[in-house]
Amino acid sequence: MGAANSHSPGSVLTGKRIVLGVSGSIAAFKAVALASELVKAGAVVDVVMTPAATRFVQPLSFEAITHRPVVSDLFADQGRSIAHVSLGVDANVLVVAPATADCLAGLALGFGHDALLATALSSRAPLLLAPAMETLMYEHPATQQNLETLRRRGAIVIEPAHGRLASGRSGRGRMAEPVQIVEALRTILGRTRDLADRRIVVTAGGTREPIDPVRFIGNHSSGKMGVAIAEAARDRGARVLLIVGAVSVPLPPGVEVQQVTTTLDLKAAVEAAIRDADVLVMAAAVADFRVEQVASDKIKRTGDEFTLHLIPNPDILASIAAAPLVKVGFAAETHDLLTNAQQKLVKKNVDLIVANDVTAPGSGFGTDTNQVSFIDRDGIEDLPLLSKREVADRLLDRVLQLLRQRSSEIPSLVGRESG
Ligand SMILES: Cc1cc2nc3c(=O)[nH]c(=O)nc-3n(C[C@H](O)[C@H](O)[C@H](O)COP(=O)(O)O)c2cc1C
Repeated sequence: MGAANSHSPGSVLTGKRIVLGVSGSIAAFKAVALASELVKAGAVVDVVMTPAATRFVQPLSFEAITHRPVVSDLFADQGRSIAHVSLGVDANVLVVAPATADCLAGLALGFGHDALLATALSSRAPLLLAPAMETLMYEHPATQQNLETLRRRGAIVIEPAHGRLASGRSGRGRMAEPVQIVEALRTILGRTRDLADRRIVVTAGGTREPIDPVRFIGNHSSGKMGVAIAEAARDRGARVLLIVGAVSVPLPPGVEVQQVTTTLDLKAAVEAAIRDADVLVMAAAVADFRVEQVASDKIKRTGDEFTLHLIPNPDILASIAAAPLVKVGFAAETHDLLTNAQQKLVKKNVDLIVANDVTAPGSGFGTDTNQVSFIDRDGIEDLPLLSKREVADRLLDRVLQLLRQRSSEIPSLVGRESG
């Protein structure tokens, strides 16, 4: 079952502190195999079980594999070691596999009535969840809402698979296989701090073009995608400047924020910001036109027709030189998605276009998920429907590749410029 390279010394899992939370599902036996794979890969694994989980698998099974005590009773050591706090604080990652419907609800609501929930509350490490349950439980709006809440907070969810369930029925709800969970952990731990000291400028939200002192032309952008990118870049160690127009989501702590209103404001802010930036990600929804003559007083109703004269705004991305800056653009389209995105790639001279059909289910304005394609000069990568945070991390993986390519090209660029 285990990946052959999991034994290699120096693997990303070596020496990492992994807290494995196990809740009361029939799939708890798979967590024993997962613990075994993680230990073989060199991780230090602490298992925290809910009382219900101990009805399915004995703590001894985990202790024999991890050679560490299992925490299953919040009150067992009578307050001597406060394991539920120290484990959470010291963890590099917290993985809950299997995650029951009940456990997901507790995590989403912030309950702390058992050792697993209390550990999760004390932890600020990345949280990976592998739900396992009957299809009806999984598809219940309560469970889906709890998953949505957890995703919004940054949790990564490995979707359960379709298959035969404990009840004998078939459907979605089978916990992901341990090998998939190990892969996800490698990705999460490998990403950590890989953008350390990079300066990343992200634009988010919608611009507003004034018509008169009380009216404007705006758009439906919520800013969620750009904010998710800023948060993901922050978590990976980047110094982030988030330039925001109108947004309907809270602005993230730990990033520098600059507010703008119009497209011209945004252009000026971006031009100033990129002077010392490595990466520009333009996720803002920018108005292509502005009102030529903004009225100084509120325009009054007269009963007659009224015509606004609009003039084109500058194309911010196209006006900025590429290399050494890594430029990423978004193409929110409603038709001919790939053709339009490919044209943008060339016209705006960007390194990567993230294209999404804003009319597709689960994509576009205000949703917490997005289904996008990455388009670069080498081709197209279609991604599945993912949380916006997961899209952000996939995007930053591509940005990192581009940065690495750039740094191997830079000496020749510098040589050309100075020559
Ligand atoms: C045989 C059996 C199997 C169960 N399997 C699951 C399951 O796969 N997923 C789930 O969400 N709940 C399952 N349950 C219900 C949970 O064990 C129950 O909701 C429990 O309170 C979960 O507690 P915990 O989240 O604290 O571990 C199962 C119950 C039984 C009796």
